[in-house]
Amino acid sequence: MVNRPQVKLANRQSDWHLYARLMTYVAPYWYIFLFSILGYVVYSLGNVLLADMMQFLLDALSPSENVKPGFVARAAHAVYSPGDMGAQEYARIAVPLTAVALAFMRAMGFFVGTYFMNHIARNLVHALRCELFDKMLVAPSSYYDGHSSGVLISKITYNVEQVTGAATKALKIIVREGLTIVALLSYMIYLNWRLCLVFFVVAPLIAFVVTIVGKHFRRYSRRIQDSMGEVTQVSSESIGAYKEVRIFGGQAHQQSLFHNASVYNRSQSLKLAFAEAVSTPVIQTLLSSALAVLIYFAMAPDVMEGFSAGLLVAFLTAAAQLGKPVRQLSSIQSVLQRGLAAAEDIFAQLDYDDEDDSGTVQVDRARGEISISKLSFAYAGNTEAALKNISLTISPGQTVALVGRSGSGKSTLVNLLARFYAPSSGSISLDGIELQDYQLSNLRSQFSIVSQNVSLFHDTVLHNIAYGQMAGASEAAVRKAAESAYALEFIENLPQGFETVLGEDGAGLSGGQRQRLAIARAILKDAPVLILDEATSALDNESEYRIQQALENIMLGRTTLVIAHRLSTVEHADSIVVMDNGEIVATGSHAQLLEQGGLYSQLYHQEFTD
Ligand SMILES: Nc1ncnc2c1ncn2[C@@H]1O[C@H](COP(=O)(O)OP(=O)(O)OP(=O)(O)O)[C@@H](O)[C@H]1O
Ligand SMILES: [Mg+2]
Repeated sequence: MVNRPQVKLANRQSDWHLYARLMTYVAPYWYIFLFSILGYVVYSLGNVLLADMMQFLLDALSPSENVKPGFVARAAHAVYSPGDMGAQEYARIAVPLTAVALAFMRAMGFFVGTYFMNHIARNLVHALRCELFDKMLVAPSSYYDGHSSGVLISKITYNVEQVTGAATKALKIIVREGLTIVALLSYMIYLNWRLCLVFFVVAPLIAFVVTIVGKHFRRYSRRIQDSMGEVTQVSSESIGAYKEVRIFGGQAHQQSLFHNASVYNRSQSLKLAFAEAVSTPVIQTLLSSALAVLIYFAMAPDVMEGFSAGLLVAFLTAAAQLGKPVRQLSSIQSVLQRGLAAAEDIFAQLDYDDEDDSGTVQVDRARGEISISKLSFAYAGNTEAALKNISLTISPGQTVALVGRSGSGKSTLVNLLARFYAPSSGSISLDGIELQDYQLSNLRSQFSIVSQNVSLFHDTVLHNIAYGQMAGASEAAVRKAAESAYALEFIENLPQGFETVLGEDGAGLSGGQRQRLAIARAILKDAPVLILDEATSALDNESEYRIQQALENIMLGRTTLVIAHRLSTVEHADSIVVMDNGEIVATGSHAQLLEQGGLYSQLYHQEFTD
């Protein structure tokens, strides 16, 4: 199934490493954790005392001289001396009262343990989810190139949810039932340690089953997780491209992709369910056999001699009570392993290097001199370089046009200017300082970019223009920017004007309208370097002409890089750079380039004969 390129997880972390790392999220809440443990200790003691109470009850019915009373009986005697009451008469009052007191004690312990453990679990999940999201905001472009968006989304939704399940459910059960087992076993050892030896025979067997099954759980969980990424990926792709799917008859293809992912998910889930359904009864059977052996030995005459009926019943009650926690622990293992597999994957994401931001130079406002020297660049995994030996200098305030065939590397150059990628060799500088020496956010604040694929947000028109660092810009400034982008008229015709909420990625607008909003956003930013990558490609000639008129003013006093296929729009640039196959093949003014008669004049004449 999953044959999409998937970024291999960096070396899988060892379990202890994983637990230790998860514990660092719990550490800040250690006092709450202790409090919760305390609650569960009280709860598990309650369970033991219930067994002990059986001795109190039965010893009252058939008193035995040579056995000393249990904890509950002694506590009751300490609280209220029986005086000359008969044992049965006393027990008749004391046992029900003790039962109520124990139930209350267990209830309180349960509440404290459960609530506070949830508190920690929820904080852990919240911290993980936010860290994962924050990571996406600083991850390098290679992170996005290497993962599909569906897979990334599924990490935030599905994987985090798996950790939630493990953290809230498994953590509680492990602590609560684990403590109960410890308490019950301690009590039984206290009553008669020799009888408990039988557990030392079965315990390793149970541990063996648990480990083997746990490994399988983890493996299936990882696969389920991957297939959930696939499911999200195919769904979001099919939703985003629903028109293409229908026009090009891709339903069957999308369907088979989805079904395959889902079938794989089902088969792995079933394997998990199988392992789960097998392991619990196996463990139960092992335990029951141990109990059977226990009863056999417990009822041996020489053992019985030291036991009263009450003590025997208390011992067996405690032994029988072991069943529930062991069953719960073994059935929670799948949830736990799913959580661990998810945590492992989340940590692998968190360990991804951030975008390099080691530069320290900060400038208020750059002059806008861009100097590129012997720059080469290849995208990761591509053998062919997208940019080859590019050298180019742009003086402050100049307008330079970048033209060339599709795929010649124009947008790649813009990506490198904004430091979305680092050069393979050569250098780029702004105002004489290498780009990587700038603090990243400071560098990016020097650029206003309208990229080739405009992205808008599910928010109002106003917030789409005054986005990010421009939030809070005055309404007048936003209007002015919209006017310069030739967008004011259509915005005012929208149902709520600037307050109209756009659909996801600007759904509800035409291609040209989207571009004009993006231009308004870039104008409002008022950065010293303006980059327009096919910014008006979706506009009609008239609108394009008008925007150009408006941009003339805006380009004054700032460095502008215009990328355009329609060459008529860049005729007036100070300099035109012609790119082909990742290289600069010619530079000059419109007239000079036409005269040279190279690629430029070829493209230009084609445009006009068309
Ligand atoms: N993220 C990426 N990963 C790998 N290769 C890429 C990536 N983006 C672009 N390329 C490749 O780099 C080359 C240059 O692409 P670029 O987008 O810079 O071209 P362009 O000149 O902007 O083309 P157009 O005029 O069609 O926008 C192309 O061969 C393209 O396939
Ligand atoms: Mg491009």
